[in-house]
Amino acid sequence: SYEKVGLIVNLESLLHDRLAPALAAVAGHPVDPVVRASPHADFQSGAPLALARELGRAPREIAAEVAGKADLTGVAEIAVSGPGFLNLTVSDSLLTGALRAVAADDRLGVPVTAAPERIVVDYSGPNAAKEMHVGHLRSTIIGDALARMLDWLGHDVIRMNHLGDWGTQFGMLVEHLVDLGGAADHSIRDLTAFYQDARVKFDADEDFRTRARLRVVALQSGDPLSRQLWRRLVAQSEVYFLDVYARLGITLTAADFAGESRYQDDLPVLVDDLLAQGLLTESDGALCAFPAGFTGRDGEPLPLIVRKADGGFGYAATDLAAVRHRVATLGANRLLYVVGAPQRTHFAMVFAVARAAGWLPDPVTAEHLGFGSVLGADGKMLRTRAGDTIKLAELIDEAVGRATAPAIGIGAIKYADLSGDRRGDYVFDWDRMLASTGNTGPYLQYAYARVRSLFRKAAHGPGPISVTEPAERALALALLGFEPAVTAAAALGEPHRLAVYLHDLASVFSGFYEKCPVLRSAPEVRASRLGLADLTARTLHTGLFLLGIEAPEQI
Ligand code: ARG
Repeated sequence: SYEKVGLIVNLESLLHDRLAPALAAVAGHPVDPVVRASPHADFQSGAPLALARELGRAPREIAAEVAGKADLTGVAEIAVSGPGFLNLTVSDSLLTGALRAVAADDRLGVPVTAAPERIVVDYSGPNAAKEMHVGHLRSTIIGDALARMLDWLGHDVIRMNHLGDWGTQFGMLVEHLVDLGGAADHSIRDLTAFYQDARVKFDADEDFRTRARLRVVALQSGDPLSRQLWRRLVAQSEVYFLDVYARLGITLTAADFAGESRYQDDLPVLVDDLLAQGLLTESDGALCAFPAGFTGRDGEPLPLIVRKADGGFGYAATDLAAVRHRVATLGANRLLYVVGAPQRTHFAMVFAVARAAGWLPDPVTAEHLGFGSVLGADGKMLRTRAGDTIKLAELIDEAVGRATAPAIGIGAIKYADLSGDRRGDYVFDWDRMLASTGNTGPYLQYAYARVRSLFRKAAHGPGPISVTEPAERALALALLGFEPAVTAAAALGEPHRLAVYLHDLASVFSGFYEKCPVLRSAPEVRASRLGLADLTARTLHTGLFLLGIEAPEQI
């Protein structure tokens, strides 16, 4: 809040602190003033309504009493409105002071956290030797935005790319590679085709199936040739994924790959530990945990399979090992998993078992940040016309081809993904996401470039800000909304809060620009308005950077 940085930039918290003592005096106990930006005044508090219900008194009367008791320094106007809201209008001088403080701050009034946490952000997680699908695209884009924001707020962020680089399918893939002569690098350049060929052979050829199964055993027992070929397949995939990340402006690097294979040696120990703690039950030959509170459709307890009947370990065991590693070895105190909504139960069960086993001790939190699907125009899962999964590389090519510049095409895809509540599905629609108007990436990029162009034309730079005109006030209030927007987006894992904020800011700026002449004004007014424009540009630039979207100076 503003006290921590010594700047009065967060007017919501300022007014909160002004109203809280008055509310407490009327209520006889502390009451949250719930001050919010409002279209009816600068800010509004709805607290008198709830308090009136509690005290059995008339809400407007309570509101008036609170208004009478509050310290209103810096408040130009306070009014009881509607059923009992308090409408608050701050003074021009308070607004000006706050804005000047933000303008003078490199971080635009957003303090570095006083309580840094070590946060693992698990995102992207594509599967080796397979094409990334749009679900991975969402995870990659949303996860990267969160990692950027948490980083910028001063947390110790550990990016982890839980690559699917282990499992029985590698028996089939390695065996196929052996059939191709092993050394043939070019044969796996097109990973999807490679995977599909192996799959077709596996389904059609009994002998190949048998060899593939033996290959799994060889691979898992450390046979050098099998391991070497497996490693080559994974390495080629990693190169491909890194290329996708580079083209998308994703901050994941080669050092962030932490695939499923990394945990394989931990798994027998993990099972012993769970067995010793009495947390596993045998069920049809498999070792399962039955965490409390999870039941299937039939009402039967739901198993988390830790060791399969054939002795192999699966996805759940690996995730348990990953939790343990992240907490015990990496010292993380917050684990975030940006993975599609269908894995909700998987993570809830993994977290429950990890807690029961003592691998997630109390102050450590683990959260699955789920997201919805990407749909085609037909409202079904996005696929190619032929019904295949979309190749991400081709999707990126198309975005770049359709847009006026690569940054615009990529920005459009990313913004479309980030601008809605992640929990919802969204329809992938090129025309809409590439439009230069509306709630789109290009709209924000153009807005930024337009503000910057002012400074190329102007012979003058930004000067001290003073706000008086209604359109200036509106812009000033919008600019002060940056800190609450970033803080909420990061705390809730909801990048759309920042996206929506930036879109609002850009719209308010265009209203300001229509009503308030900048370059044609008298020197002092011009300097102040250029100051507002400059702060708008810096806010858009920082906000887009935090979302992982480029903001070209000129388009
Ligand atoms: N590879 C997985 C998939 O494609 C996603 C990995 C998510 N992260 C995790 N720790 N399980 O579904």
